[in-house]
Amino acid sequence: MRAFLSGRFVVFDGPDGCGKSTQFRRFADWASAQGVTVTEVREPGGTSIGEQIRAILLDPVNSAMMIRCEMLLYMASRAQLLEERIRPALERGELVLADRFVSSTLAYQGTAGGMTRDDILEVARVAVGDMWPDDIVIFDVDTDTAWQRMAAGRADSSPDRMEQKSAEFHERVRQGYLQQCREDPARYVTIDARQNPETVFARLVESFVSRMKAGIAPRVRRS
Ligand code: TMP
Repeated sequence: MRAFLSGRFVVFDGPDGCGKSTQFRRFADWASAQGVTVTEVREPGGTSIGEQIRAILLDPVNSAMMIRCEMLLYMASRAQLLEERIRPALERGELVLADRFVSSTLAYQGTAGGMTRDDILEVARVAVGDMWPDDIVIFDVDTDTAWQRMAAGRADSSPDRMEQKSAEFHERVRQGYLQQCREDPARYVTIDARQNPETVFARLVESFVSRMKAGIAPRVRRS
């Protein structure tokens, strides 16, 4: 498993309230226990510049933000994260575990926000070049369950600008992820995230073990 995970770029993604942060923590600890050095990053953010962009993106005061501005800010944070942290870690042969990536932009600003896939991918090409993830794990959950988890997760804080969007918007986000999974089944792995965290984690590890057994190696990257 160590050889399989080293130098691999893995993204955890899914709608708000899907429980990916819990799984992210568990998986990072599990991978470290396999003897792999893990670099953990989150989006938007993950660098000093990215965290400043994150604050702008999530501040409810910025309700006038236009969709193109929003998409470009997410990509700007990503471009910085890629050069500052992701590329160097992959070059050192570490496992990069990212909480969200381009798949989030395709779901939120694309399917839900109305931007075309082509426009997003054109900007993504500038932001990340050919540094695409080897595996994109989508934690899928119905919108009602996600809504309840989101509310429980912010017991003492108010919803951010993205969480304030309508239930219909969040349903489109979910559909956006499912569509990406259908379009690229070799790269995307869907995990049913309605179950309890232990069951979800067992499925997650199982899916990595079976990919390793199937001999799916990381794609060759040009730098
Ligand atoms: P987080 O809550 O997982 O940290 O993500 C922050 C919010 O930003 C979440 O509502 C998803 C949203 N988002 C986008 O809309 N587009 C993106 O490209 C990314 C990375 C996140």
